[in-house]
Amino acid sequence: MRVLMLGAPGSGKGTQGKRIADRYHLSHVSTGDLLRQHVAEGTALGKQAKSYMDSGDLVPDDLILSMIMDRITGPNALRSYVLDGFPRTLPQAKSAYEIGSQTGQILDAVVCLDIPHDELIDRLQSRAQEESRADDTQDVIRHRIEVYEEKTLPLLDYYDSRGILHRIDAVGTIDEVSDRIFAELDEIQKGLESAATA
Ligand code: AP5
Ligand code: MG
Repeated sequence: MRVLMLGAPGSGKGTQGKRIADRYHLSHVSTGDLLRQHVAEGTALGKQAKSYMDSGDLVPDDLILSMIMDRITGPNALRSYVLDGFPRTLPQAKSAYEIGSQTGQILDAVVCLDIPHDELIDRLQSRAQEESRADDTQDVIRHRIEVYEEKTLPLLDYYDSRGILHRIDAVGTIDEVSDRIFAELDEIQKGLESAATA
């Protein structure tokens, strides 16, 4: 199964993405985590990405595509995964689809975590006290939400028109949200299993 997590900053993509990966034995691939690793290691990509990330802007599409595409398409790619944070612009989504469809590596489901702004800000401010992510300051959090609305929200229509969008109410405890997601993904997995044995 190949799943994409969509949702605003703080909606729970990372939290739920890891749980989905455990339940369905998928690899969890987070472009935010990969980029933070590049920044920590001081790679060329990390140096280019850092200023965008610190200000809450998206890293340019070409840098992201060169970082991620070998992992998810092509001969040595992962076969099944949950993507967290990629694609998040229409050009990224269209490139990933074009390249992936040549080798049959396309998404089975898109999980969009729906949640009001106030709750996002509360969650990210509490995370800021526990972890130290450079982009969890009040102004940058607000800007990340604006960028999400401008650049990533248009993907909802794109995936809805492909018939693979699942909108999930992401308010509630972590377990409650997982249960809502699993109810939908269990059905998709059953469909994939029966298609494989048919
Ligand atoms: P990224 O790392 O993807 O950050 P983000 O989208 O801002 O999202 P977060 O990781 O902050 O939130 P999340 O949805 O994962 O929520 P979480 O589970 O942590 O991207 C960072 C930057 O990298 C971008 O700004 C950009 O610069 C760059 N980038 C990455 N991908 C890119 C791409 N494809 N293109 C271009 N640039 C890219 O949860 C948040 C908190 O809430 C946690 O503390 C968690 O414990 C808590 N929580 C979760 N669920 C619940 C719940 N149900 N109840 C209470 N608390 C909860
Ligand atoms: Mg995350």
